[in-house]
Amino acid sequence: MSPISLNSLLELAIDLSHSLVANDRFERLLTHIRKAINCDAVVLLTVQGDYLKPLALQGLSAETLGRRFEISEHPRFEAICRSNTPIRFESESPLPDPYDGLLLAMEGDLPVHSCMVLPLLFEGNLIGILTLDSLTPNEFDDIPGRSLDIISAISSAALKNALTLELFERDASHARAVVEELTQEALSKDGGELIGESEAMTKLKQEIQIVSHSDFTALIYGETGVGKELVARTLHQQSNRNNGPLVYVNCAALPENLIESELFGHVKGAFTGASQSRAGKFTIADGGTLFLDEIGEIPLQVQSKLLRALQSQEIQPVGQDKTHTVDVRILAATNRDLQQEVEAGNFRADLYHRLSVYPINVPPLRERKQDIILLSGYFLESMRRKLGLQQIKFSAEVQSYLQHYDWPGNVRELEHCISRAALKARSQQHKAIISIRLVDIGELHNDQLPEPKVIQQAAAQPNRTPVINNLKEATEDFQRRCIHQALNENNGNWAAAARSLEMDRANLTRLAKRLGISIKRVAIQKPLN
Ligand SMILES: Nc1ncnc2c1ncn2[C@@H]1O[C@H](COP(=O)(O)OP(=O)(O)OP(=O)(O)O)[C@@H](O)[C@H]1O
Ligand SMILES: [Mg+2]
Repeated sequence: MSPISLNSLLELAIDLSHSLVANDRFERLLTHIRKAINCDAVVLLTVQGDYLKPLALQGLSAETLGRRFEISEHPRFEAICRSNTPIRFESESPLPDPYDGLLLAMEGDLPVHSCMVLPLLFEGNLIGILTLDSLTPNEFDDIPGRSLDIISAISSAALKNALTLELFERDASHARAVVEELTQEALSKDGGELIGESEAMTKLKQEIQIVSHSDFTALIYGETGVGKELVARTLHQQSNRNNGPLVYVNCAALPENLIESELFGHVKGAFTGASQSRAGKFTIADGGTLFLDEIGEIPLQVQSKLLRALQSQEIQPVGQDKTHTVDVRILAATNRDLQQEVEAGNFRADLYHRLSVYPINVPPLRERKQDIILLSGYFLESMRRKLGLQQIKFSAEVQSYLQHYDWPGNVRELEHCISRAALKARSQQHKAIISIRLVDIGELHNDQLPEPKVIQQAAAQPNRTPVINNLKEATEDFQRRCIHQALNENNGNWAAAARSLEMDRANLTRLAKRLGISIKRVAIQKPLN
């Protein structure tokens, strides 16, 4: 065999440097090796713990690729794994050949033949091996050691690059899958579906539909608990960016000194404690949507940087001179009157105009009372699932009671009220079908008073039913209803009714007497509506 020509070594190196990202990079490596060295079979194997795993091969049967060679079981492999230099096994070597019976050029046992193995090292560690077999005895004897070292080095670099790339590709696709998964999870987390068929809700859904397919910045505003976040999630879900991330930032929860780095990222050493470079929310949201919740709380000096980012779609991480471009759609939400904040000098007018390219008002629940029934049913079913109940329903008087309240805490208050009532009802009723009664709902009162502006709006509406005119009367009426209901459910049995109301029997009858409830009358009374 003649020594390997410099030309074929060069060709090998150049071709591999071009094929760094090609899927067939291992095939090309083997083809070049076969051009340089005359052989019947060549195999590239990588080290995986105690095993060698074939990555590519030529001249051996294809099923060899599925084999995993335990190093300790194959003396030739054991020898090369201990060596830093290529090994040429003698043609008469008594050591068994791991490829016995696998060579395509030969049926059955391998006769006397040449076998050579090159270790592939990276930073002194064995990452793989190259095996070469020839049916011609002593075929590899004349190849200079230096040429083999060069082939080893080139092959090691190719293998290392390929393994690193594979790792990156796997990481990247895993990260992508995680983002998609989390996006979906986040969408379904809070129900996902906007419930409501009132006129106000239908209009809101239409608006969402219109704006979702554009890249317009939308400012979602409304009182606390009306569903602004849900509207933002729905908007993202219906947009063309729904496979990208929906990144949430609560501007109210960020300390003033960190907000800039949180939004735009920072480079290592940008400030005390910045021990690592970190991507900001804008960068993470690239290709998707950035939801700036509670935008009214953002400090003035960050407002100007935010404005610049919105105008140019360019961001500048803290401590970095260069800017970079991002492709992000912005949604913002607030329960403040931003226009008023602008007038008061707390919010930049230019940022306000930029954000409210498309303003979306989410109306309070008291302006869409028809939705209360649908929403209640929705939350009740969700509690049934969470508590693993066969069935849970409202008793007749509960629904009208829920509809006659103003819900200053809006949908969130309704949701919490139903969750509490369901838990309470379950703890007291040990039946297949649980019924939520007025006692389980408890007394509803406006402990979250609407903001002054809201009160004015409410007062301006003639149709709104005033909930409570006189607190004492309302409380007594409520107590009367609870007692009637408990008695009806317990067939007029006062002791049982007292137990279900968690009261002493004597106290219950005293209270009933004061409220003007007669024992006989109640025992046959029908539920109140
Ligand atoms: N139309 C709706 N259909 C179903 N669930 C709703 C609806 N509106 C609100 N919710 C639910 O009510 C709760 C409060 O909604 P959300 O958090 O979106 O309110 P918000 O307007 O962002 O409130 P805040 O201003 O206090 O942040 C959430 O659990 C949400 O899923
Ligand atoms: Mg919110």
